[in-house]
Order: sequence, then structure tokens, then C-alpha cells
Amino acid sequence: MSHTGPILDGRGATDYERYVRVPELLELQKPVEELSHPEERLFQTTHQAAELWLHHIDYEVGRVVKALGENEPAVAAELLERCRRIVDLLREQIIILETMAPVDYHVIRTSSLGRGSGQESPGFAKLLEVGKRIWGPFEELIRRRNLSLIEIERTPRAQRELFRLVQAMLDYDEAFLKWRFTHMRLAFRIIGSKVLSLKGVPAAQLELGTREPLFPELWETISALTSEFPPAY
Ligand code: HEM
Repeated sequence: MSHTGPILDGRGATDYERYVRVPELLELQKPVEELSHPEERLFQTTHQAAELWLHHIDYEVGRVVKALGENEPAVAAELLERCRRIVDLLREQIIILETMAPVDYHVIRTSSLGRGSGQESPGFAKLLEVGKRIWGPFEELIRRRNLSLIEIERTPRAQRELFRLVQAMLDYDEAFLKWRFTHMRLAFRIIGSKVLSLKGVPAAQLELGTREPLFPELWETISALTSEFPPAY
């Protein structure tokens, strides 16, 4: 009797395929013969992969919120650092689409996408909430320790764990802004900036999102700290 054959339930010849659910996953892609253009596969793969990772960030953010409520700033910082890496990965992956010729994208855009828009991404909508979800529990955590944000910035080594958490929040925020900027440049490169999206929204509006941090108070505190150090010359 073989000791290497699959033992898990599910479709696929191996336990790898059954665990990862490879057959089900690949069925979610348009078959080659239905693609409006050979470049459409890349477009669909990029969006599908992004949705999986966005969903995962949402899951990890739930754990961050829980860690904050349980007075575990180091755990929250570690998980946020993981989320930051995922956002960086998402940024790296969307620029693969810059290898597509704009004229090829127009075939996909005008025949396959309906009135679809990235704005409708449920995963992205959740990411826009990350600031609000984390900020309340974070404020409560530092209040319980009788500290304010500016105090953490003034004496980072006296509150090493909390400072690390603040840094992780800034890192995440910055990674998200960089994603938005990179995506804006991708959109301008493929369809231009002086056009309307499939939703009728000016593409140039993407720029607004590149100026909206998730944690504005953190950035304001850094400015406040700077104003406490006027130049002596
Ligand atoms: C050919 C490549 C792409 C083009 C030309 C493009 C174009 C656009 C445009 C014009 C908008 C703003 C207007 C609107 O939403 O209707 C937008 C928004 C958005 N797109 Fe894309 N996009 C591309 C690829 C992607 C990819 C790969 C993702 C990954 C998930 C994505 C996700 C989003 C998201 C989340 C928004 C909302 C952004 C925000 O509100 O800041 N897009 N896209």
C-alpha cells in the first residue's frame, strides 16, 4: 500500500491540490477561449490575487484590534508589520500591469469590465476603515498607561514597546499611501489622467487618496514635536 497518496478530502490528485483547493481556485479564472484579449488573464489574475491579500489584511487587522484591547502592543506592532509587508507586495504586483500596452487594455476595458471599478473592491473598502478601527483601541491603550502620543515621541526609549507600535502604524500608513500613489501612476499610464473612469469619475481624483493618511494624528504629532525644537541659530 502506498504511503504517499493523498489522505485529505477534496478535488485534485494530491493533498497539496486538495488543501490549497487548486482546482476550485483556477476555475475562478476566465478560460483562455473566453478572454477578450490575451492580456486579460494578467488583469484578472492581478485583481483576484489582490482580493485574497486584501481579505487577509482585514483578518490580521482584526487581530491587531484584539491585541490592543488586551494590552499587547508588541503583538499589535508585529501583526501590523506583517500587514505592511502585504501592502508592499500589493504595490509590487500592480506595477506588473505597466507592461501592458494601453491599447490592449482598451479591448479588455470596453468588452469585459462592464461598469466595474476598483472603487467597488470590498477588500479595499475594508482597508479604508483600518485607520478608524485601530485608532480608538490605540488611544484607549495609551490612556490606560497615562501617556499621550507626544510623550511617546519625546521619550521613545522610555516607552519602547509603544514607540515601536507607533512606528508600525506609521509604516503601515505610509505603505498604503504608496500603494495609492503607485496605483494612480498605473492608471495614468494606462488610460491617462484627463479621462473619466468606467464609473464616470475623473481619473485625476485618484490623487486625493494619495494625500489621505489613515492616522492623521500621528503625522500631526511629528509636526508638533518638530515645533518644540526651534533652531537656536
Ligand atoms: C489597467 C490597470 C488599471 C487602471 C487603468 C485602473 C484605473 C482606475 C481608475 C481610473 C480608478 C478611479 C476611478 C474609479 O474607481 O472609477 C481606479 C480606482 C481603483 N482601482 Fe484601479 N486601475 C487599474 C488597476 C487596478 C488594480 C490591479 C487594482 C488592484 C486591486 C486596482 C484597484 C483599484 C482601487 C482599490 C481603486 C479605488 C482607489 C481609491 O479610491 O483610491 N486597480 N482604478
